[in-house]
Amino acid sequence: MAVLPSAEIKYRSGAVFYPFRQESNFLYLTGFSEPNSLAVIRKTGPGMGDYTFHLFCRPKDPYAEQWSGPWSGLQAAEDVFNADEACDINQLTALLPSLIRDATVIVTDFSTSESKSPLMAAFRTSFPTKNTPITPLTPLINPLRAIKSPAEIAVMRHAGMVSGRAITQAMRRPWSTEKDLESYLSYAFTQHNLSGPAYVPVVAGGRRGCMIHYVHNNALLEQDEMILVDAGGEYGWYITDITRTWPASGKFSAAQRDLYSAVLVAQREGIKMCREQLGMSLDEIHRATEAILETELEKLGFDFGLGKGMFGKGGDLMGTLFPHHVGHYIGLDVHDVPGYPRSLPLRAGHCVTIEPGVYVPNDEAFPKHFRGLAVRIEDSVCVGENECIVLTAEAAKEVEDIEALR
Ligand code: GLY
Ligand code: MN
Ligand code: MN
Repeated sequence: MAVLPSAEIKYRSGAVFYPFRQESNFLYLTGFSEPNSLAVIRKTGPGMGDYTFHLFCRPKDPYAEQWSGPWSGLQAAEDVFNADEACDINQLTALLPSLIRDATVIVTDFSTSESKSPLMAAFRTSFPTKNTPITPLTPLINPLRAIKSPAEIAVMRHAGMVSGRAITQAMRRPWSTEKDLESYLSYAFTQHNLSGPAYVPVVAGGRRGCMIHYVHNNALLEQDEMILVDAGGEYGWYITDITRTWPASGKFSAAQRDLYSAVLVAQREGIKMCREQLGMSLDEIHRATEAILETELEKLGFDFGLGKGMFGKGGDLMGTLFPHHVGHYIGLDVHDVPGYPRSLPLRAGHCVTIEPGVYVPNDEAFPKHFRGLAVRIEDSVCVGENECIVLTAEAAKEVEDIEALR
């Protein structure tokens, strides 16, 4: 028996809440996006279809819904969300013990939750006192979530297409503040039925691009700098993850173009490796793109021999210039299926990012004209057997294409 509680509403202060986001495993199995809910899936036989799905949720309540807006209620839990049995969440302590009683194994992640919510309290008191083994859910569900179905890929294509187009539109115009650009993208990510930004974006001018998680997004943009934007929208709960770097003026300087082109070579090669046929893992693609970047940067005068021992963790120069992983899985979450290894060979249906970057410290060890420059190029990609689909191909990334936009 699998038991999954929904996410809970989180409060900022008093009755003021943060935007609600459903717990991803719950969403994956039920499609139900409301708080105060619990799914119980009972295996009733050996076959694929031998199970019953109980969905505990809030019954209709005209008074409360007058305040909060409408919610689904028990009838919709059955009619729309395909519950075999819809149950009133307020009856949890009365109903759950009898459902759980016959379970031989309970699969749930609730035991690791420290929440003190009434739902969790009811859930805990309903657990059987006999020693029914409890095993974690995530290791069972991660391999399912990691491989996307054609329906999931279609949704991710839409998220990628609209978001990519929005970023290309943003490149067409001049921007004088990071905030204006962020606001433009936030709005653009609600068009064509997207629900908004998938994550807090990075909108960084010039050297601020070297701060990987810069999200202040409140500085002025200078026309001789590059703009690094890491932003994407969400559609049907699925995210897209894009980074583009472009010159604020619309035209790259020679140094900007050289560094950008070096990263682009590594990024294109990394994308070509996202094929089941090659059997490469994200970790292997990371090492391969590091090697490509090293070759490209040496052509530009970076001295990997001299730099050794001077920088970063363990004195690794590549780790200073390119300090993050080349990619991660994507899906319902930006860093999807947490805990699913990046050492596994990529298979058809895996969706990942490929996002090499170079962030040059303002240090004499580096060629002067590159100091303080930051470039990252990131696409969301769906792995196929012999080829891959770039979900975010509508975001311009060739130098000529970017410059032609103005
Ligand atoms: N936007 C977060 C990331 O690229 O991993
Ligand atoms: Mn990413
Ligand atoms: Mn990103």
